[in-house]
Amino acid sequence: MESLSEAVGNCRKCGLGHARLNAVFGVGDCKAKVVFVGEGPGFQEDHQGEPFVGRSGQLLDKILETVLGLKRSEVYIANIVKCHPMKNPEAPESHGNDRPPTTEEMSACRPYLEEQLRFIKPACIVTLGSVPTKVLLNIDKGISTVRGHWYDYPVELFGPGHPIKVLPTYHPAALLRNPNLKRDTWEDMKMLKSFLETGKIS
Ligand code: URA
Repeated sequence: MESLSEAVGNCRKCGLGHARLNAVFGVGDCKAKVVFVGEGPGFQEDHQGEPFVGRSGQLLDKILETVLGLKRSEVYIANIVKCHPMKNPEAPESHGNDRPPTTEEMSACRPYLEEQLRFIKPACIVTLGSVPTKVLLNIDKGISTVRGHWYDYPVELFGPGHPIKVLPTYHPAALLRNPNLKRDTWEDMKMLKSFLETGKIS
């Protein structure tokens, strides 16, 4: 993982690597049973070099603790792209400069996430929001349709017959915008808790 993190730190496969302040590799337990995957670093993450440390991240920590009884150090947290996608790449110090990653940026960065997954060998992935869900599952359905259902990761990274399970849920930023989505997210996290405790899908 260390050499992979170093490779990410030196990566210039797409334009994001030139503008970001810090590459945001991932954080947590490299033997975690669950990996949470977001879309890409924002302002705070770019400054601190760690995923989900802004307002969304604080809510993610709270969900982990209250519903799953887990600290962020007991799961693994990463993003599809490792560098901050900015509307104006010349202004990394500006707030409100975030944008979603492009298809090309996600394709360039995805092999790093797959290497992380190969190393961690999690039983499941939780995709946070529609961007990582669409990209990782290769589907074009809205998050409200797919959340709360289990899928198989389309690539059998650990050989045939050992699929990683994927559970899409809302991105914490969506919960900050619309607290009504919290109830569904709590249900999704209870499904995750049951899977982590029993190894079975309920
Ligand atoms: N949103 C994301 O998708 N990832 C982060 O790391 C922070 C906010």
